[in-house]
Amino acid sequence: MGGARDVGWVAAGLVLAAGACYCIYRLTRGQRRGARRVGLRPSRSAEDLTNGSYDDILNAEQLQKLLYLLESTEDPVIIEKALVTLGNNAAFSANQVIIRELGGITIVGSQINNPNQSIKEKALNALNNLSVNVENQIKIKVYVNQVCEDVLSGPLNSAVQLAGLRLLTNMTVTNDHQHMLSTYIADLFHVLLTGNGSTKVQVLKLLLNLSENPAMTDGLLGAQVDSSFLSLFDGHVAKEILVRVLTLFQNIDNCLKKEGRLALQPAFPEGSLFYLLYGDECAQKMRALVYHHDADVKEKVQLRCDASDEEYLSQLPRLQLVLSKSGGNYLNSCPEKPAIILNLRNKLPPDRKLKKARASITPPHLPPIFRSFRG
Ligand SMILES: *[C@@H]1O[C@H](CO)[C@@H](O)[C@H](O)[C@H]1NC(C)=O
Ligand SMILES: *[C@@H]1O[C@H](CO)[C@@H](O)[C@H](O)[C@H]1NC(C)=O
Ligand SMILES: *[C@@H]1O[C@H](CO)[C@@H](O)[C@H](O)[C@H]1NC(C)=O
Ligand SMILES: *[C@@H]1O[C@H](CO)[C@@H](O)[C@H](O)[C@H]1NC(C)=O
Ligand SMILES: *[C@@H]1O[C@H](CO)[C@@H](O)[C@H](O)[C@H]1NC(C)=O
Ligand SMILES: *[C@@H]1O[C@H](CO)[C@@H](O)[C@H](O)[C@H]1NC(C)=O
Repeated sequence: MGGARDVGWVAAGLVLAAGACYCIYRLTRGQRRGARRVGLRPSRSAEDLTNGSYDDILNAEQLQKLLYLLESTEDPVIIEKALVTLGNNAAFSANQVIIRELGGITIVGSQINNPNQSIKEKALNALNNLSVNVENQIKIKVYVNQVCEDVLSGPLNSAVQLAGLRLLTNMTVTNDHQHMLSTYIADLFHVLLTGNGSTKVQVLKLLLNLSENPAMTDGLLGAQVDSSFLSLFDGHVAKEILVRVLTLFQNIDNCLKKEGRLALQPAFPEGSLFYLLYGDECAQKMRALVYHHDADVKEKVQLRCDASDEEYLSQLPRLQLVLSKSGGNYLNSCPEKPAIILNLRNKLPPDRKLKKARASITPPHLPPIFRSFRG
């Protein structure tokens, strides 16, 4: 304990000495910076610099002092304050560059190994703010595996887990580093299914980023996912979760289609996400969602229905009923989305019973099978 304290005092001394140098620097540069409010007192102590309530943007010298302090102290209170101050400062793009150039990413990154969960969380938050910069991401990516391990093994719904998920989400806003998460996808789905609402939303944000990247499609669809995943498609699921789950499906589906692979019936292992998404139960749930009270949910389902050949076919019995009840006239009153009907016409199986139905579908009219008909 005494050792740690000593280091703390030494660090504070060094910081004060650096403060004196800063005074000289300021005297020579003061005028040029006059317009910018720096608000620094010449004798600013370590305590001042790490005072979280202090809102001013630190300059390069102050950031350097702060990083030195962070590197040299073992006092958890100072470490935590320094990380919060760095994180707040990293919200500004100029500081993201300065902190990287000062070697700050490694110094902050080493704190994600701190056994103290509160410090770990602050380090992840600071890295997250630093990650809003492409070059910083290249440095931060060395921590991605560790962060994945922590997110998956850490306490469920904890602040550390959320902070890790947020960092991973922001590390995947571009496709550059997404492949690093390939081996963790099944485990991420497990966190999605077991976590509470906040955790679910954050995992979904991450999965949504992956789902837009065709290079990740196989990894996602091949992941072993518990069938309880389908309960996320239930009508009563919170909108912020439901809409994201539907978007996830839509993204994956688009990627498969873009490559024309859905028609090839790609082979994925049993128990995989593919089996869940393209199985009967999911199709049933999607159809039920067509009548959801929320317009955004409806729109997602509608889009999905517009886009999927399988979906048209699964609507056939419904369509036949519409046709038999309306004698075909029904179609003429609904001049919307001719594309669906054209597509449907082409997709009808060459079955005698359906021939009549096919003949009566005259583009550009469309039966409102998704909304008006509730048979
Ligand atoms: C933090 O700084 C503010 C403003 O300089 C000061 O009023 C406050 O007492 C400081 N808090 C701590 C814990 O040092
Ligand atoms: C973790 O760090 C916090 C914040 O500085 C501190 O208050 C707490 O006592 C530390 N916990 C442990 C177990 O060291
Ligand atoms: C990170 O940046 C956001 C703004 O983008 C800011 O609100 C937050 O306080 C910053 N600090 C940390 C530690 O996350
Ligand atoms: C993470 O990325 C999102 C979307 O790009 C951005 O809005 C957010 O500010 C980033 N988070 C942090 C903490 O910078
Ligand atoms: C999830 O759990 C965490 C930790 O127990 C809690 O702080 C948070 O409010 C919970 N969120 C929801 C939506 O229940
Ligand atoms: C990742 O998600 C964020 C919002 O969470 C979004 O701004 C960004 O465009 C997404 N990136 C990709 C590649 O999907």
